[in-house]
Amino acid sequence: MKAITISSNGGPEVLEWADVDLPALGPAEVRIRHTAIGLNYSDINVRNGGFYVTERTTFPVILGNEAAGVIECVGDAVTDFQPGDRVAYVGTGGLFFESTGAYAEQRNVPAHCLIRLPDDITDQQAAAMLLKGLTASVIINRCFRPGPADTVLIHAAASGVGSLLAQWCHHLGATVIGTVGSAAKAQFARAHGCHHTVLYRQEDFVSASLKIVPGGVSAVFDGVGRDTFVRSFDCVQPFGTLVNYGNASGSVPPFPLVLLAQKGCLVLHRPGFGWHANTTETRAQACEELFEMVRNGYLRVEVCATFPLRNVADAHREVEAGRTTGSVVLLT
Ligand SMILES: NC(=O)c1ccc[n+]([C@@H]2O[C@H](COP(=O)([O-])OP(=O)(O)OC[C@H]3O[C@@H](n4cnc5c(N)ncnc54)[C@H](OP(=O)(O)O)[C@@H]3O)[C@@H](O)[C@H]2O)c1
Repeated sequence: MKAITISSNGGPEVLEWADVDLPALGPAEVRIRHTAIGLNYSDINVRNGGFYVTERTTFPVILGNEAAGVIECVGDAVTDFQPGDRVAYVGTGGLFFESTGAYAEQRNVPAHCLIRLPDDITDQQAAAMLLKGLTASVIINRCFRPGPADTVLIHAAASGVGSLLAQWCHHLGATVIGTVGSAAKAQFARAHGCHHTVLYRQEDFVSASLKIVPGGVSAVFDGVGRDTFVRSFDCVQPFGTLVNYGNASGSVPPFPLVLLAQKGCLVLHRPGFGWHANTTETRAQACEELFEMVRNGYLRVEVCATFPLRNVADAHREVEAGRTTGSVVLLT
């Protein structure tokens, strides 16, 4: 089969369209023919290296954590699934930056990691929303669940995770302020949950958000990291909540813990989707919650760009430059 491999860390040029032999199917595994593969910012971090993984000795590596497709065959011990079933998966059990392998035409995946896809959820929707949606889910269900009395500030609100968070907070009745990098993204963010948008490369988001909520927002949800997180402390009301879930601009620099007390007894979370809904049962429940929200129109999953898997380098360039909105999906 064909897959995208890297033989060293580096820029998009290290992504190679290569012939790869699939290992024999284990008794508890299924072989999936991928139809749609989710592109996540973490794929870029793993490709670049040195971010989560300081030294990787086992090249070549196939990138990617998330895909949807059709089961081709099942191992001898698998009883819950059969060939022809439509399924998806997000990770295969280990740490997300180690258990990669989705940028491939096919993959052997442990059956306990599979999510059965309902008829009304397409393969592209699943690949576009499961990892990003479970990230929104860990934030809303485990870190801070806003209600009608709350205003939340969401950085990069037109991004894959940001646009799902904004819609979810809107659905829960909160007022949503979203920061965005361009006027086009502001329009997208307002169509996806934001009541207010701030062009944070042109205006100071701290004063802009305090103008909207002088007493400070209840929570900040931040996937941007270095450029936004510590400055966001000044936007939050006393005893408010700060959630950093990502580092699109780079890692959050170290800061003294006492800053949380000085800025108003703030609560800090740094969630990872992999720790949330990490059993077969809890994952199925969390995904069903996402599917139901899509069905009811509370979450619109926008696949704003698709690329053939073999052209993934072009997709990485677009995402890394911050030129995309919503989700990017790779097609086999
Ligand atoms: N904790 C977890 O479990 C988890 C799960 C999923 C994702 N994440 C992380 O969350 C972050 C966002 O993920 P996503 O899927 O929403 O990403 P995305 O759709 O690719 O959006 C990233 C956005 O960040 C903004 N940005 C600000 N500074 C940037 C820079 N220097 N380079 C590139 N983009 C920059 C851009 O929006 P503007 O143009 O509006 O500024 C960009 O479009 C990533 O760091 C990702 O690794 C974490």
